[in-house]
Amino acid sequence: MKITIKHYDPSKDAAPYDVSYDVPHEDDYMTLLQALVYIHENLAPLSFDYICRGRMCGRCAMMLDGNPVLACVEPISEGSHAVEPLAGLPVVKDLIVDKSQVQAKISETYKRVRVSPLTEDDLQVYNQNDSDDLFGIQYCARCQVCTAACPARKVNSAYIGPSHMLGVAFRHFDPYDQADRIVEAVQGGLWSCIMCGNCTKACNQLEIDHLRVWQKLRDEAMDRGFSDKK
Ligand code: FES
Repeated sequence: MKITIKHYDPSKDAAPYDVSYDVPHEDDYMTLLQALVYIHENLAPLSFDYICRGRMCGRCAMMLDGNPVLACVEPISEGSHAVEPLAGLPVVKDLIVDKSQVQAKISETYKRVRVSPLTEDDLQVYNQNDSDDLFGIQYCARCQVCTAACPARKVNSAYIGPSHMLGVAFRHFDPYDQADRIVEAVQGGLWSCIMCGNCTKACNQLEIDHLRVWQKLRDEAMDRGFSDKK
């Protein structure tokens, strides 16, 4: 198969450039990550990132034929393919992007805010809080694939995007947390989402039900008098 990679080293290249590689396709099944490792070990040095090889660390996120994917679990078929760095983020080198700023913001959101001491009742509620109530958000690897797939985020950089909004929701559904996450969601662009479901389609954590999360946040926001006009 032919794989065309967008190479770029901002420290010395004036612009990104494409290089095509012939990669033998393994018999039944091959992942994009296996193809990249083959290129790096046999054909040319290539910068890309991965750790877990199992959709947990989120570090291997990139674009395959225009779609955001996790390379470690993305099957690649015979034929021609284009591989580029994950859309919407600055390139560090080749297929490695700088997620540090966006991850720092999301990590801030994930910090619990608690102003009063925990009571026995709080602990009861927490212990009864079934993981189903979290709509699978606890499995989010923060890989940014959903945000790269989001058409609303592409046209509106003020919208924090699905990955960050999942963090807001995660803390909203956390009975320990006492911050006003509905206000945070509204300010982050809760109504910027067009409910297309691209985030869910792109997400490799099949447990996460993004659209139900957005709808629940919207319902609660509307109960409090917020609307898409505000
Ligand atoms: S290597 Fe960890 S998610 Fe792909």
